[in-house]
Amino acid sequence: MPNTVLIGAQWGDEGKGKIIDVLTEKVDWVVRYQGGNNAGHTVEIGSKRYVLHLVPSGILHSGKKCVIGNGVVVDPVALVVELKQLCEQGLDPSGRFFVSDRAHIVFPYHKLQDEFSELQRSKNDQIGTTRRGIGPSYGDKASRFGLRMGDLLDPMFPSLLEARLQEKNRILSALGSAPLELAKVLVEYQEAARYLAPFIVDTIPLLNAAVRKGEKVLFEGAQGTMLDIDYGSYPFVTSSSATAGGACTGTGVPPNRIDHVIGVVKAYTTRVGEGPFPSELKDETGELLRKTGNEFGATTGRPRRCGWFDAVVARYSVMINGIDSWAVTKLDVLDPMETIRICVAYECDGKRVENVPANIRVLEKCRPVYEDFPGWLTSTKEATRFEDLPAQAQAYVARLSELTGVPVSILSVGPRRDSTMILRDLSGRKLE
Ligand code: GDP
Ligand code: IMO
Ligand code: MG
Repeated sequence: MPNTVLIGAQWGDEGKGKIIDVLTEKVDWVVRYQGGNNAGHTVEIGSKRYVLHLVPSGILHSGKKCVIGNGVVVDPVALVVELKQLCEQGLDPSGRFFVSDRAHIVFPYHKLQDEFSELQRSKNDQIGTTRRGIGPSYGDKASRFGLRMGDLLDPMFPSLLEARLQEKNRILSALGSAPLELAKVLVEYQEAARYLAPFIVDTIPLLNAAVRKGEKVLFEGAQGTMLDIDYGSYPFVTSSSATAGGACTGTGVPPNRIDHVIGVVKAYTTRVGEGPFPSELKDETGELLRKTGNEFGATTGRPRRCGWFDAVVARYSVMINGIDSWAVTKLDVLDPMETIRICVAYECDGKRVENVPANIRVLEKCRPVYEDFPGWLTSTKEATRFEDLPAQAQAYVARLSELTGVPVSILSVGPRRDSTMILRDLSGRKLE
C-alpha cells in the first residue's frame, strides 16, 4: 500500500478507527498527526470493542509501529491510562510505540480554561468542546508559552512548570477558580513522565528513515475537515489541522512522500457539539439514524446530531484534502430508510450555493437542496461484494461517488473488520 493519509471528510466520527484497523495490516507504521484525546476512534475486533483517544488505532495489530507525531497535543496522564489499559488487554506497546518530543502537553489548567471559556460564552456561542483542554493547549503552542513532551524529561521541568503555573493561576483566580498547586501537578506529571520516558523520542528522523527504507506509513487523521481550524465551520471547530496537510506539518514527513489520500465519510452525516449543519434532521428520521447508527460520542457519550449526506461538504473536502478515494462507512444504517436523501447544493437567500461559505452566519442560513433515492429496506450487513448489495444501495453509492467525482475504494456495512468490502486498491485500480 502506498503512504496514505486517512482523514475524516465530515464533522468527525466517520468511522476512521475502523478503516485504519482494516488498512493497518498493509502498512508498517500508523501515525497520529493532530488533535489530542478529544478524538475517540472505535475498533471492534470479534467481541471486543476498543476506543482509542491518543494512541494510533494501529496499536491493536501486534508488531505494527505507532507514532504520536509533533502536531498532536498530549495529556500525559490520559496517555498513561490508555497505555496501561492496552497492556492489560495484552497489547504491549514496548519497542513499537513512540511519542514526539515536540508534541505539546495538555496541563490541568488547559482543561480548566477550556471549561471556563465555554461557561463564559452565551448559549449561542458555546462550541460544545470535549473539555479536554485541546483549544487552550494549541493556544499556548501558538503563543509560544507551551511545554512539549521533551520538556517533561528535562531537569528544568519543575521550574518551567512553575513559571507557567504562576501566570495561569493569575488567570484562573480572575475567573474565580482556585489556583492549582505546583507540588500536586508536578507529582502527577513527573509520575507520568517516568512511565512515558522510554517512548518519548525525536520521531522526525525515525519516520523519515522508515520512509526512505520503503516502509509504509498510514497517517491517522482525527476529527474531520469541517472541524479543521482553517477550513472548518469556524469558530465551531477544533484547534488543529485535521485536513491532509496536517499530516506533513504534524509529523515532519514531507508532502512528496505521501502517495494517497483516503477520505472517510459516513453514508449520512453526524456532528457532535454546536455549530451549523445544513442537512441536519431534527425530526424522527434523525432520531432513527441516531438509534440505528448508535450515534453517541465515543469520547463524551453525547448524542450525535444526525442528517443526510452532504455532497457540498464532501466536494469541499475532496478539494482541500486531494481525496483520491472514499471509504464509505455505515451504509447498513440506511437499511430501514424508505427514502434516502443527498444534499446536492444549498439555497441561501433565493440563490443556489455550490460551495461551503466561509461566513458562519451565511452557512447557518443555507437550506439543503435534496436529491431523493428509494431506500432498499433490506439488510446490507452480510454483503461481502458490491454486487451483493440491493440495486438501490448500489445506485446510492454510485451517485455519491458521481456527485463528488471520487471513486469508492472501501465500503463498510458494520463495525467489525469482516463487514468491509474493498472495491479498489489504493492506486485506484478497480478490483475484479
Ligand atoms: P472515528 O472517530 O471516525 O474513528 O469514529 P467513531 O469510532 O467515533 O464512530 C464510529 C462508530 O461507528 C463506531 O462505533 C464504529 O464501531 C461504528 N462503525 C464503523 N463503521 C461502521 C459501519 O459500517 N456500520 C456500523 N453500523 N457501524 C460502524
Ligand atoms: P474523532 O477523531 C467528533 C468536536 C467537539 C466540538 C469541537 C471542538 O473521534 O472524529 P474540542 O474539544 O476539540 O475543542 O471541541 O470539535 N470534536 C469532535 N467531534 N469527533 C471528534 O473526534 C471530535 N473532536 C472534537 O464536539 O464540537
Ligand atoms: Mg470518534
